Amino acid sequence: MATRTIGIAVLCYFVVVPYALCNGDSVSSVINAFVVPHSHMDVGWVYTVDESMVAYAANVYTSVVSSLVKNGKRRFIAVEQEFFRLWWENVADVNQKQQVHELLQNGQLEFIIGGQVMNDEAVTEYSANIQQLTEGHSFIYDTFGVRPQFSWHVDPFGATATTPALFAMAAFNSHLISRIDYDKKDAMQKKKEMQFIWQGSPSHGSKLQMFTHTMDQYSYCAPGDIPFSERSGFYWNGYVKFPVPPSDGIYPNMSLPVNTSNIKLYADYMVANIKQRAAWYKTQQLLWPWGCDKQFFNATIQFLNMDPLLDYINQHSDEYGVRVQYATVGEYFKAVHDTNSTWMVKKSGDFIPYSSDPHSAWTGFYSSRNYLKGLSRHSQATLHAAESMFTMYNKVTDDKHINGSWILSKLDKLRWASAE
Ligand SMILES: *[C@@H]1O[C@H](CO)[C@@H](O)[C@H](O)[C@H]1NC(C)=O
Ligand SMILES: *[C@@H]1O[C@H](CO)[C@@H](O)[C@H](O)[C@H]1NC(C)=O
Ligand SMILES: *[C@@H]1O[C@H](CO)[C@@H](O)[C@H](O)[C@H]1NC(C)=O
Ligand SMILES: *[C@@H]1O[C@H](CO)[C@@H](O)[C@H](O)[C@H]1NC(C)=O
Ligand SMILES: *[C@@H]1O[C@H](CO)[C@@H](O)[C@H](O)[C@H]1NC(C)=O
Repeated sequence: MATRTIGIAVLCYFVVVPYALCNGDSVSSVINAFVVPHSHMDVGWVYTVDESMVAYAANVYTSVVSSLVKNGKRRFIAVEQEFFRLWWENVADVNQKQQVHELLQNGQLEFIIGGQVMNDEAVTEYSANIQQLTEGHSFIYDTFGVRPQFSWHVDPFGATATTPALFAMAAFNSHLISRIDYDKKDAMQKKKEMQFIWQGSPSHGSKLQMFTHTMDQYSYCAPGDIPFSERSGFYWNGYVKFPVPPSDGIYPNMSLPVNTSNIKLYADYMVANIKQRAAWYKTQQLLWPWGCDKQFFNATIQFLNMDPLLDYINQHSDEYGVRVQYATVGEYFKAVHDTNSTWMVKKSGDFIPYSSDPHSAWTGFYSSRNYLKGLSRHSQATLHAAESMFTMYNKVTDDKHINGSWILSKLDKLRWASAE
């Protein structure tokens, strides 16, 4: 793993101060919405990795990088490594690579989680989770010298206590989850208990605790179904078209462009949504995820429409009671931290199983695809055995009959394959 520090940082980061001391009457009641642009890319789901690269994933990074460079206020979070690495190795040119370095430096682009994928928590083996995280973090650290500090586990079907414990060991600062039982989430929204300190491991207790943010009932997508927008809401680039992107750049269901006649409609809708959601959280800081599955394949159009909308809301912030800004997850968590709020402590219970509606428990996958699960365990075991043998071989003999670089290249391939 790229980072070996045990999660002491977590303890120091969230200093506990009595709530009343920090939230005097002088605190303004304006809601600060942190608009976090992201694309949820589901590595290998429905379409293969290669099909996804051709249809949209390469365009996400190409268009996001050029959009961020054009305006320093814009932000983007890169959540997983698989597609980013393929883009970096096979698509990006020298100029784009230089731009990525600069965007990471100035904080416009942020790596979140940093694993090869966003791993499932219910049916995976923890060593595999560590391995895929290690694979992604090693790449990021070797290439950029940075370490992801925040998670974004928005799509695993249920959240286990193991994950915050592991992430604390990987020196993450905060954890973010979304898919938990709908009834439980509803109760948490009403009580403003969407954020808490999670002590995932009973034996480590407060030594491995993690500030955890639960996304509200809208989850990780911005509202899409808005009547006046051709029903696509905040997705001006529309929906992906497989197998290849349309050559004229016109995609299905592109939302109506923001202009002077409709900007107030968009702004009113967005502000109402922000206010509804902010009421479920303890502070006036709201994380407003802007994205959904397979989005930002044309970041140019996305930002060209959202820029004036955010400006409009900020120009009317007195009447709206809302301010908006683009943000990374890190910027949002920093703002929450700076409120000095105190948080309830959750001991080691899990959010498993996951139900999205009455009579909709997502548990079928616990027992299906036995062969695939077996293959994953087997490749993990083979990888572990091969790495151990290679290490021992190097340790005990100076006599190099075996070509070490050849073995390392094979191990790299197996590591990449089993991380997927
Ligand atoms: C939070 O605490 C820090 C350090 O004590 C203090 O400087 C800051 O003003 C406090 N912030 C708020 C919003 O109370
Ligand atoms: C994105 O939109 C712009 C402006 O309409 C267009 O010129 C460009 O071709 C589009 N890019 C892609 C990848 O569709
Ligand atoms: C896209 O637009 C078509 C035609 O108007 C509609 O039938 C379809 O439901 C829309 N898709 C989505 C995801 O909104
Ligand atoms: C704004 O866009 C709508 C829908 O595309 C269009 O009907 C309207 O004429 C436009 N208004 C202006 C001022 O361009
Ligand atoms: C060792 O393996 C590497 C990578 O496969 C190869 O490039 C190199 O030629 C090999 N060296 C020898 C001495 O065989």
